[in-house]
Amino acid sequence: MNTLKKEKDAIILAHYYVRPEVQDVADYIGDSFYLSKIAASAKEKTIVFCGVGFMGESAKILSPDKTVLMPAMDADCPMAHMCDADKIKIVRDTYDNVAVVCYINSTAELKSLSDVCVTSANAKKVVENLPNKNIYFIPDENLGRYIAKQLPDKHFIFNDGFCPIHKDLTINDLRAAKQAHPEALVLAHPECTEEILENADYIGSTSEIIKYAKTSSSKSFIIATETGVFHKLQADNSDKTFYPVSDRQECPGMKLITPEK
Ligand code: 13P
Ligand code: SF4
Repeated sequence: MNTLKKEKDAIILAHYYVRPEVQDVADYIGDSFYLSKIAASAKEKTIVFCGVGFMGESAKILSPDKTVLMPAMDADCPMAHMCDADKIKIVRDTYDNVAVVCYINSTAELKSLSDVCVTSANAKKVVENLPNKNIYFIPDENLGRYIAKQLPDKHFIFNDGFCPIHKDLTINDLRAAKQAHPEALVLAHPECTEEILENADYIGSTSEIIKYAKTSSSKSFIIATETGVFHKLQADNSDKTFYPVSDRQECPGMKLITPEK
């Protein structure tokens, strides 16, 4: 693979949710924010993006002169499609001084209709620095509500999009996990529901969760996000234990990428 990479002048990027064996062959692994920065500054002619469709599209937007290859063209994020041009038009027609803030987990079309694009790692900072009073946050309602709570001076309009994997983690799942592991800290991704986030000890992007677990003095953690992060969590912390919230924490799109592909 290394010879082929050199020959093709290619770099391999992988999101933390892809299979461990794919993460192991990547040059860079990270959250959406980190991978976007790498994609924007890569020297290589070709980017192989091991992630779902919106990630490859975003890399192409950031580096239009490069060839971006997706190992699995059918690896898709359902949330990326959960808004549309008509909804955006209605909000723009209804509100003055509105900014359409688009989570990176969205199609290129939705991004093109928005004012600014954010990731879970920089959404608060970007929105708080916008001059607009009204914020239409698309497509993820949970992330939008999480940011809105931290910025009470802004008026948010929410969209009803969601991540099926994070939304499916219920408060009963979390209660059961906490009962089984009462000493464990709960680390959650902001795509989780408000109920889960209210019961979390820490909320952050995938990279932020990984960083928090590494620096924390706690020895056990319940992880409320996709299970791909366990690979890095375990590699970084052989003395710590990580538990899922439920047995339904796999993103099917992310798992379509295999070393063969
Ligand atoms: P991160 O930006 O935290 O990596 O999240 C991406 C994602 O798809 C979460 O479901
Ligand atoms: Fe999309 Fe959810 Fe998968 Fe992230 S985990 S890529 S938001 S479906």
